[in-house]
Amino acid sequence: MRLVPPEIPRPSYAESGVPDEWDEPLVKSPEVIDRMRRAGQAAAEVLQIAAAAVAPGVTTDRLDAIAHEECIRRGGYPSPLNYRWFPKSLCTSVNEVICHGIPDDRELADGDIVNLDVTIFLDGVHGDTNMTVPVGTVDPESLRLIDVTRQCTHLGIAAVRPGEPVNVIGKAIETHAHANGFEVVRAFIGHGIGEQFHTDLQIPHYYERRARTIMEPGMTFTVEPMISAGTWRHAIWDDDWTAVTTDNSRVAQFEHTLVVTDTGSEILTLPAAGA
Ligand code: MF3
Ligand code: CO
Ligand code: CO
Repeated sequence: MRLVPPEIPRPSYAESGVPDEWDEPLVKSPEVIDRMRRAGQAAAEVLQIAAAAVAPGVTTDRLDAIAHEECIRRGGYPSPLNYRWFPKSLCTSVNEVICHGIPDDRELADGDIVNLDVTIFLDGVHGDTNMTVPVGTVDPESLRLIDVTRQCTHLGIAAVRPGEPVNVIGKAIETHAHANGFEVVRAFIGHGIGEQFHTDLQIPHYYERRARTIMEPGMTFTVEPMISAGTWRHAIWDDDWTAVTTDNSRVAQFEHTLVVTDTGSEILTLPAAGA
């Protein structure tokens, strides 16, 4: 396991692997939202730096090292590290890997696509964001998958509005994915976030009639659709983490952490202007 300097505040699971679970309020105080803005901005910057290092021949472990160092440089703890015993500081999901890929000595190849999922614990709260990037020269269908997935994330976020049930998000995402001939992965969903990495609040990316929690100003959660060029069905490798499509079709994903506002939402995981 990579080391985190002792002066950096760490989440409860850093030693034990098991997160403390408590009934965190869905609606955050302005003070917590302010801290989440800082954590979100730091996560966005770390993601930008790690993504800039993607190239043919670079190992996913190298990207893990970059994300780890950049979290620490900002005074933050890389949230994945030892979360439910996840062994690394970054998730790297290549091609048919849906999510939770574990960095290793695999070299990225020209034509791959890779998702980098950065989460930082900073100022006592988590900021969670990811993006899929092409490696070298990628086939047009994979580029279309990446573009449509980015649009799905932004359409999902655009559906966020106080007074509406959370299922409007999945409805917007699913409609756009299907219109483009793609499927929405069902097993992994957006989640409430704050002082805990994952809270009970569930944000499906497909239309789920029963997801009727009403959005309120101050609620914080992620929107992070995983869009498949083939099936939405998944399998988990025997490392207990790596999720893949059962037909090996490629998947793209984009994630933001956001807060519901009086009129819509504010994305918390954007880099500072000029960063
Ligand atoms: N960042 C992922 C998410 O979007 C969660 C990763 S859990 C880990 O929810 F343990 F794999 F890091
Ligand atoms: Co997330
Ligand atoms: Co994430």
